[in-house]
Amino acid sequence: MSAGSAGTALGPRCPRLHFDHHAPNERAALERLCADLRRDGGIAWSDAYDGFWVVGGFDLVDEVLRNPALFFSGRRDGGRSAGLGIPTFRTPAFIPGEVDPPDHRPYRDLLLPFLGKSAMAGLAPVVAEIVDGLLEDIARKRAFDVVSDLGNAVPGIVTMHLLGLPYEAWGRIVRPVHDTHNVEPGSAAAAEVQRQMDAVLGELTDLIARRRREPADDLTSHLVRASEPHALDDHEVLSLQLAVLFGGVGTTAEAIANSLLYLQHDAALRARLAEGPHAADIVEELLRYITPAQSSARTVARDTELGGQRLHGGQRILLLLLGSANRDAQRFDRPDAVLPDRERRRHVVFGGGVHTCTGQWLARLELTTTLRAFVRRFPDYRIDENAAVPFAVQSIHAGWLGMPAVVEAS
Ligand code: HEM
Repeated sequence: MSAGSAGTALGPRCPRLHFDHHAPNERAALERLCADLRRDGGIAWSDAYDGFWVVGGFDLVDEVLRNPALFFSGRRDGGRSAGLGIPTFRTPAFIPGEVDPPDHRPYRDLLLPFLGKSAMAGLAPVVAEIVDGLLEDIARKRAFDVVSDLGNAVPGIVTMHLLGLPYEAWGRIVRPVHDTHNVEPGSAAAAEVQRQMDAVLGELTDLIARRRREPADDLTSHLVRASEPHALDDHEVLSLQLAVLFGGVGTTAEAIANSLLYLQHDAALRARLAEGPHAADIVEELLRYITPAQSSARTVARDTELGGQRLHGGQRILLLLLGSANRDAQRFDRPDAVLPDRERRRHVVFGGGVHTCTGQWLARLELTTTLRAFVRRFPDYRIDENAAVPFAVQSIHAGWLGMPAVVEAS
């Protein structure tokens, strides 16, 4: 990855870089690239994938997120171009993430009875019970893996609960979701992940058919019961199930693992989290610091200016570096420190504007419940950082493949 400046047809003194967000990279290298990008005005042109704008300053990222008419998320050309992937994902368009207003809203509203803030009181005891069960297993084992035994498991099992699948299915359903971020396109490993994902799609499709026959009180039943004018066909129900699956399990797992890694080095913060009253603020600040979903994308609808650069309408997709925006010193004082009492707090961890994460309240509930219960029960846990294995690609998700740890008997 390298950055340079050029006065070209792209704009006066347009910073240019070769940034391939799918290529293996280390966190430190990504952070350096983001720091350079912010220093050079927060926007640059990358020549990867036929060229796209990279945006990483807080104000610019926020401006793009809040203007969906000018910077849209939807697919074009019958789903073949644009959307949230650079290059365009080879799947059908994601609902609701790759649907633009006004069609977007009804889909989003259908998720809110299960994911909105007011649904959390009902979910809190469920999440607490799931976390307690996992901590009990960890206490028995003492040597465990933060990723597979806790980070992946909490949102994995909670997602089974939401969708209406048996809890014990979580491993096989969630594994290919995590693995999609870690296989090279076209490789044998990618073919195996696709095979597992096809099996997941089969299970979800069977569940839809069962719930159409016999509704229960889960999200899948709620979606199949939706009536005119927003009755959903099976494809739409499946897509919303996948939004919950893909939206919720990786991001929350990454937040749990990275939080415990950070907290290992900050005994005072651990103690404060265990006490409770400031747990929500601590989680919010850890989220900003970590930013599990590091980037998203948009397409420019028509010629416009952003950060002093001339952008053209059409296929130029913007890569939004949310992680970079959340470490912007012009927005956050001492951005690389975790300071739960900071005054300026609004971040873009969950995006912003019409597509702001629908699962944000559930994510906060899962994180607060898990992290607090964990540090209370195992205040002196030890993660073996040398043995921890990060995702090879850090520009899309700040994730870990494995993170061995031990706890004292409790
Ligand atoms: C720490 C955990 C999470 C993080 C960091 C996160 C991050 C995000 C971000 C950045 C977006 C916006 C993407 C964009 O505008 O391009 C988003 C959207 C979304 N997220 Fe999350 N998410 C988290 C947890 C969840 C959970 C638990 C669920 C569901 C159970 C979920 C479901 C969704 C859905 C459905 C959308 C699309 C919203 C729309 O387009 O209207 N997310 N998430």
